[in-house]
Amino acid sequence: MIELYNVRKSYGNIEVLKDVNLKVREGEFISVRGKSGAGKTTLLKILGLLDDPDGGEVRVFGKDVKGLNDDERSSIRLHYIGFIFQFFNLIPSLTVMENIELPLALAGIGKQERRLRVQELLKYFNLTGLAHRLPDTLSGGERQRVAAIRAIVNNPKIILADEPTSSLDNENSQLLMELLTKINREKRVTVVLTTTDLYEKLPATRDYLLMEGRLIEH
Ligand SMILES: Nc1ncnc2c1ncn2[C@@H]1O[C@H](COP(=O)(O)OP(=O)(O)O)[C@@H](O)[C@H]1O
Ligand SMILES: [Mg+2]
Repeated sequence: MIELYNVRKSYGNIEVLKDVNLKVREGEFISVRGKSGAGKTTLLKILGLLDDPDGGEVRVFGKDVKGLNDDERSSIRLHYIGFIFQFFNLIPSLTVMENIELPLALAGIGKQERRLRVQELLKYFNLTGLAHRLPDTLSGGERQRVAAIRAIVNNPKIILADEPTSSLDNENSQLLMELLTKINREKRVTVVLTTTDLYEKLPATRDYLLMEGRLIEH
């Protein structure tokens, strides 16, 4: 689905990614572990077409992204890629339902169908009770679960989750990982997840360590 070949990225004179190679195949659950500052966010931004490498090649569905303009990139992101960020990024003035609806509204889907799809997802993941709550009234764990559902509402092919558990306690991390596993196994969405935890047991099909600008099998 997404392939990186000899990807390099520097900021000023810091070489963050020196030579990264990765093939993300359909149905996989890939984990990327690395210390803070190792380049995990940089890597996910490149995988999600939010940023370009300085060198090497990025291919999405077999196509070199160098030739794509901003509109084409946005379109790929909107239709194929879901993001979950480290810090909750729900919009505070919108309810859970409205937050999850947002990507559907951006995709031009009408209000009635949006409501139906969001209700169905909330039910599937046993979160119906949260539908009309504002983000401020949710626990951190609940917010991340809502963010995960919002990330899949457009039926993306792949979810990029950047340290989604790093601000959660053990129990909520566990619940979020169960939700992501369900998204991966039952909804058939490919997952790439980063974590600073080098030892945490993960439901990954492939487990990598990002160190000194390179990805190595963990
Ligand atoms: N936009 C930027 N400008 C300058 N330096 C950056 C920028 N983004 C990241 N960096 C630097 O690149 C390194 C890797 O950052 P990042 O990818 O955020 O690591 P991680 O997500 O693993 O903590 C860090 O040293 C960070 O300070
Ligand atoms: Mg980061």
